[in-house]
Amino acid sequence: MYRTIIIVALCLSGLAQAQEPRRSAQEVWNELYAQREGREYQFNKFLAETVKGKQPGKALDIGMGQGRNALFLAALGWEVTGFDISEVAVRQARETAQKRGLKLEASVGDVDKFDYGKQRWDLVVGMYMHQYVTRNAKKIVDSLKPGGILVIEAIHRDINRDNLQGERYGHYSNELPKVFGRLRVLYYEDTVAPADWEKSGGKPVPIVRLIAVKERAARDSR
Ligand SMILES: C[S@@+](CC[C@H](N)C(=O)[O-])C[C@H]1O[C@@H](n2cnc3c(N)ncnc32)[C@H](O)[C@@H]1O
Repeated sequence: MYRTIIIVALCLSGLAQAQEPRRSAQEVWNELYAQREGREYQFNKFLAETVKGKQPGKALDIGMGQGRNALFLAALGWEVTGFDISEVAVRQARETAQKRGLKLEASVGDVDKFDYGKQRWDLVVGMYMHQYVTRNAKKIVDSLKPGGILVIEAIHRDINRDNLQGERYGHYSNELPKVFGRLRVLYYEDTVAPADWEKSGGKPVPIVRLIAVKERAARDSR
């Protein structure tokens, strides 16, 4: 008797869950950025080290969020384009740019649909973008100018957590140098350090970092 009641209850709760509409990525991220309204976040230090002393050119920030890195680059004189799936984040980035008197080409866009272009960027930034950059690796490599640089910092899969969209995330060991193998890897690090995006409250977590350059002689189709 009790077993029957428990089974029926489980079935009903499963049915209720199945009927709950799955929220889109845009809704999930919009909600997060709405909570972050008015809060500004520090630019990424690894990015700052990477561009130190470099001649500013055209930069693309993939999934720029509220624009902490895009605006940092714009302040250094880079001509920055950034996009993100969250229109709330893009609006916040535009407002901060205006407040700080910085030029930023910001749009709402999806990593899988964005027109990255060919040989267009001197710098491509993919901070904490995980599978969103790896699954678009070919487009990203093609979009770099010869001599252009790709910089990534992200979580390692060892973190063993789901992202906001409920997907297991993080890079596999050596995934980034392999996926971006058409570029010359200048630096790759697999370490445990405070991640500047992760909600780990500054606690060290497994992260990876990559700097890779498109060699001047490299052909796009290689
Ligand atoms: C972990 S946050 C990193 C944000 C930013 N790169 C940073 O480091 O501050 C991931 C970002 O990816 C964006 N995102 C998620 N799915 C996306 C998609 N399909 N296309 C574009 N952006 C997406 C989210 O809105 C969010 O801003």
